[in-house]
Amino acid sequence: MNSRDGAHISVWQQTVEAFKIRANNTVQKKYDVIIAGGGITGISTALALQKAGLKCLVLESHHLCYGTTGGTTAHINTIMDVPYSTMIKKFNLETASNIATASRDAISHISNNVSQYTIDCGFQLTDAYLFAKDEKQEKELDDIKHACDKVGVASQWTDKINVPIAFRKAMFIPGQAKFHPVRYVHALATAFEDLEGVILDKCPLTSVENESDTGVIVETPKGSFEATYLIYATHIPPTINLVHLRCAPYRSYAMAFRLKGEKYPEGLAYDMYDPYHYYRTQEIDGQKYFIVGGDDHKTGHEPNTVKPFLSLESHVRSNFDVDAVTQQWSSQYYEPADGLPYIGVFPGHKKNVLVATGFGGNGMTYGTIAAQLFEAKILEKPHPLIDKLAPGRIKPVAGFKNFTEHNLDVFKQLIQKVFKGSEAHEFVEVAPGEGKIFKVEGQSIGVHKDDNGAIHTVNAKCTHMGCTVAWNLTERSWDCPCHGARFSPDGKVLNGPADKDLEYANLELINAIK
Ligand code: FES
Repeated sequence: MNSRDGAHISVWQQTVEAFKIRANNTVQKKYDVIIAGGGITGISTALALQKAGLKCLVLESHHLCYGTTGGTTAHINTIMDVPYSTMIKKFNLETASNIATASRDAISHISNNVSQYTIDCGFQLTDAYLFAKDEKQEKELDDIKHACDKVGVASQWTDKINVPIAFRKAMFIPGQAKFHPVRYVHALATAFEDLEGVILDKCPLTSVENESDTGVIVETPKGSFEATYLIYATHIPPTINLVHLRCAPYRSYAMAFRLKGEKYPEGLAYDMYDPYHYYRTQEIDGQKYFIVGGDDHKTGHEPNTVKPFLSLESHVRSNFDVDAVTQQWSSQYYEPADGLPYIGVFPGHKKNVLVATGFGGNGMTYGTIAAQLFEAKILEKPHPLIDKLAPGRIKPVAGFKNFTEHNLDVFKQLIQKVFKGSEAHEFVEVAPGEGKIFKVEGQSIGVHKDDNGAIHTVNAKCTHMGCTVAWNLTERSWDCPCHGARFSPDGKVLNGPADKDLEYANLELINAIK
């Protein structure tokens, strides 16, 4: 079993052992490319570049697939969260068509890897169904179908869908895919190591000491390394950067179910609520799992993170014949301001420092596209999306209501610095497993009681840009509402962009209000 960035283990992390790094690959001081991050983006990139003859080093802070690749529900799509109708409106038909082609290529690329490396990850090409339940959604679905026709994504109207849910209108989209993401990434990592690629786990990139047009020197707990290129494939990069103001962090909830009987839906399905529900089945080691996700909210904005699980479970139980819940977990994703991911030169850095972030709910597809873009950029091959997805692009963001709201929210957080403090007497009422923010002598302190009643205290000021973290009850983590950094109950970094742990809070202050 793998550990992950939260208290809940996903069905993927539950069904595979942690990746064992090959000890006898020689670690050198100098590489062509250093890749920070051991999820689908980092490992796909590392394998592609190593295959092309470059020497690559992967630095992973924890272990492979510790973060969102281990928490995804692994839908691999050519229909994206931001519909092609929106891409055409906000960008243009050419950009939307390029994304459609790149997503098809990503599915072929994954399929080819599965065949070439004989990967046992349950990869399957499959169909998807998108269904409208009211008049407004019907109109949106018409627009989506029309845009799919324009960008060349095959689809048809259908009067039957694969889930027993009432609908008014539905669209059938062939050529989608699904797999076990952790098994896939582990197999790519093995192929990378077979080519003498080096992975260092429990090895965060702690600082970049020297950045020039010809290369970088990075520091890690396992020594310093040099490379011509540095790629941040860490889901969101560390430091304070333009991309943090252009990406809004969200949490999505997922549950795996055992159903009564053998009627597990084939294919993928999506309703059109906001947030929408997503459904699919995966067989792992002879056991079928019906996996449903939804009930998303902005990170750090839901005071009771039990509620989304309850709502999701009740939704599934009211539509399907559930035998048992086998796993439940939540996972982070980043919504890009203008609807498309940021892949390319890290703004404010030299041209040999690259980043990929803002994949929305399409991490498996965009993670694979990012690897192809990095490969094209470094090997100087043409790719139609290189300029279009460049993180420094100036694009219309005003049309994206969420983005404007998000930044107002960030601003509020930054100027207020603290949540409204709870009264001191509430301190004693913090239940085991709970965490709360208290304002004590002007300082916001995060207090968590563990299952044994032991108290853990942190300075609640996020080490990224100073927003106040909030307690995530279900994943037992401190989550930052501004750019999505997450910390363990003791303040250790679980997810960037923060790269420093939360400070320990003076327990004497807490003792004073007990
Ligand atoms: Fe940016 Fe916390 S993640 S302030």
